[in-house]
Amino acid sequence: MNLTPKEIVSYLDDYVIGQTNAKKTIALALRTRYRRMQLDETLRNEIMPKNILMIGSTGVGKTEISRRLAKMMKVPFIKVEASKYTEVGFVGRDVESMIRDLVVNSISIVKAEQEELNLSKIDNYVLNKIVEKLLPPLPQAASESKKDDYQRLLEGMEKRVESGEMDERMIELEIEKINVEFNDTNLPPEMAKVQESFSKVFAQINKEDNKKEVSVKDAKVLLRQEASVKLLDMNSVTVEALRRAEDGGIIFLDEIDKIALSEKSQGRNDPSKEGVQRDLLPIVEGSSVSTKYGTINTDHILFIAAGAFHVSKPSDLIPELQGRFPLRVELESLTEETLYQILTQTQNSLLKQYTALLSVEGMTLTFEDEAIRSIAKLSFRANELTEDIGARRLHTVLEQVLEEISYDADEHSGEEVVITASLVHEKLDDVVEDDDLSRYIL
Ligand SMILES: Nc1ncnc2c1ncn2[C@@H]1O[C@H](COP(=O)(O)OP(=O)(O)OP(=O)(O)O)[C@@H](O)[C@H]1O
Ligand SMILES: [Mg+2]
Repeated sequence: MNLTPKEIVSYLDDYVIGQTNAKKTIALALRTRYRRMQLDETLRNEIMPKNILMIGSTGVGKTEISRRLAKMMKVPFIKVEASKYTEVGFVGRDVESMIRDLVVNSISIVKAEQEELNLSKIDNYVLNKIVEKLLPPLPQAASESKKDDYQRLLEGMEKRVESGEMDERMIELEIEKINVEFNDTNLPPEMAKVQESFSKVFAQINKEDNKKEVSVKDAKVLLRQEASVKLLDMNSVTVEALRRAEDGGIIFLDEIDKIALSEKSQGRNDPSKEGVQRDLLPIVEGSSVSTKYGTINTDHILFIAAGAFHVSKPSDLIPELQGRFPLRVELESLTEETLYQILTQTQNSLLKQYTALLSVEGMTLTFEDEAIRSIAKLSFRANELTEDIGARRLHTVLEQVLEEISYDADEHSGEEVVITASLVHEKLDDVVEDDDLSRYIL
């Protein structure tokens, strides 16, 4: 991954409007990691990532930025909610489990790459297994001409399986143990080992039960998993995955404000919150965490924390933790103009989504520019009058405008429906200006 900061920002621009500072800071942090990887080892080990804290009210694009990054960067990346962790000893997830999740994510990335490289091998494995079930084997003593016939039959069958013609046919399959990955990764490694040996024992006992009638279509999916377990060298996948998680892993720690202890909410503060922050310290600072795939050092994992900090402030976090997030970026609140741009300029904007959904019913939906302006304006107004929920307001507002049209869409198949400004106002004016109504509806 060697995109320049400018390239990263311009990619993000397609999905997130504004928030330039946040985009730049993150892009730079990512580039710095790339630069670091080019250095020789002694220096490389000295350079620690600078973790980022994103501050911005709800619905302004914090999570969206991270989601897009995750899609673009082919590095191990997970997004977790700080609020779901509890202090060690309390019931719940301990913070180390996020590192284990990162490793699992890394493994799936490396595995997918390997599968891609071994695509034809895997395809062959699957095809052979299925054809084996569909064609009875040729007796050993078959004559030469029989063998030729059989060969033709085989090739014909292979084609029919590949084309999907045989998809509905049922075959009996012994499904080998492929559920390793569905095991709970949340468990500490010792427990995970125990769990694994248990499932091995049960797999032995249940061997007979593993025979299943499945359709050829399903068999293709099941056998692919079996093939990748059999054909890939899982050891080297694991080693590579651990290395990548260590050097390039990114953890997006959302809702970090929820574990801050604020003065305002005194009395309601959960004693475990501060514990979670303390548990986070060594992980963010750099420590070893053991996973069932091996030990991983967290020194170079990049943490991006985000929070709205409505009730609490960054300074309500324990000082040691604040100090571990040296880069601060603030996200701007959304203006009427940004809301308009979010509707019109983003790659998968809500308007495009609705238009596409209704096109399934044969309806052509278009929006007059004036109408979009009004939607942005009324959304902004609703944010001002009630709670500021950022771009999420667009969802509720659009739903309100389009509900009826969407409900009756089947009756208007083949028609073109134009959303005009007056329609928008007709649907929304009363609701937006009525405080009580808008609290419930928008
Ligand atoms: N600046 C923006 N550009 C484009 N879309 C945005 C922007 N801000 C928010 N959105 C859209 O609004 C929705 C909510 O945004 P997001 O999940 O990023 O909020 P958030 O900042 O993480 O809020 P919270 O603090 O509540 O978690 C998403 O569907 C996202 O696409
Ligand atoms: Mg969020």
